Amino acid sequence: MGFGQLPAAAHLLAGKVAVVTGADGALGRSIVEVFREQGATVVGVDLSGADCIHANVASAEDNRRVVDAVVRQHGAIDVLVLNAGVQRMSPIVDFPPEEWERLLGVMLTGPFLAIQAAWPFLTASPGGRILATASTSSYIAEKYKSAYVAAKHGLLGLIKVAALEGAEHQLTANAVAPSWMRTPLVENQVAERVSLLNLTAEQVIADMVGEQAEKRFVETVEVASTLAFLASSAASGITGSCVPVDLGALA
Ligand SMILES: NC(=O)c1ccc[n+]([C@@H]2O[C@H](COP(=O)([O-])OP(=O)(O)OC[C@H]3O[C@@H](n4cnc5c(N)ncnc54)[C@H](O)[C@@H]3O)[C@@H](O)[C@H]2O)c1
Repeated sequence: MGFGQLPAAAHLLAGKVAVVTGADGALGRSIVEVFREQGATVVGVDLSGADCIHANVASAEDNRRVVDAVVRQHGAIDVLVLNAGVQRMSPIVDFPPEEWERLLGVMLTGPFLAIQAAWPFLTASPGGRILATASTSSYIAEKYKSAYVAAKHGLLGLIKVAALEGAEHQLTANAVAPSWMRTPLVENQVAERVSLLNLTAEQVIADMVGEQAEKRFVETVEVASTLAFLASSAASGITGSCVPVDLGALA
């Protein structure tokens, strides 16, 4: 088996209905695949994508529409994975306020709205799961990423409150904090970093790889497998936590 793969025969999520946002992205697709391998019925949500409900996660109305559609079709929501993400790099002094709103909308307000819409179903029976894709940016700041860093720090606060409020229903809420994965979100950042930091693309990539103790990118499947574990009954004792999947970047 390669990096981070769970045995498909583990069936960690048999009988569970999971909603995954950002499901047409690189990590999102891995999450959908791993969760299906583990026996879950998975509904993907994204702005586009053949196998997804098309919705804007920053919209209260779209979140309610998604929840209604999933419950109508599958009768339950057991696992909510808040994974959609966007990036924009710019110094604070030039950061377009509408871009600040967009990033906070997708990665902080959106998760709040999704949790609110899905809460009655997540708490309908014991064992509900809220999961979020945080980031090493939930712990460490970086120049020119004010909105992303603020959103990812805030996301951990939201998850902790959901953990406290969910406890009486045996609903757990946790996050994962990946370090660099080579996804479209990061490929787009290479160009931004080349111009903002005055480096070559090769230097930018080498710097990214150099941040991990094991000098490589994190594989999306490593993050997806960790999320599958957190979604499973095996992780019933973990709530209000964030698991770094960062090859030692935060160590
Ligand atoms: N790539 C990395 O190095 C890295 C590291 C840490 C955390 N993350 C986080 O991982 C998550 C997934 O990112 P990725 O790297 O797979 O990037 P990606 O760009 O491949 O996927 C992000 C997905 O989110 C979707 N999305 C964006 N705005 C949306 C909206 N308003 N409504 C619905 N969907 C929307 C996009 O369409 C896209 O499919 C993000 O939350 C990101 O912040 C990524």
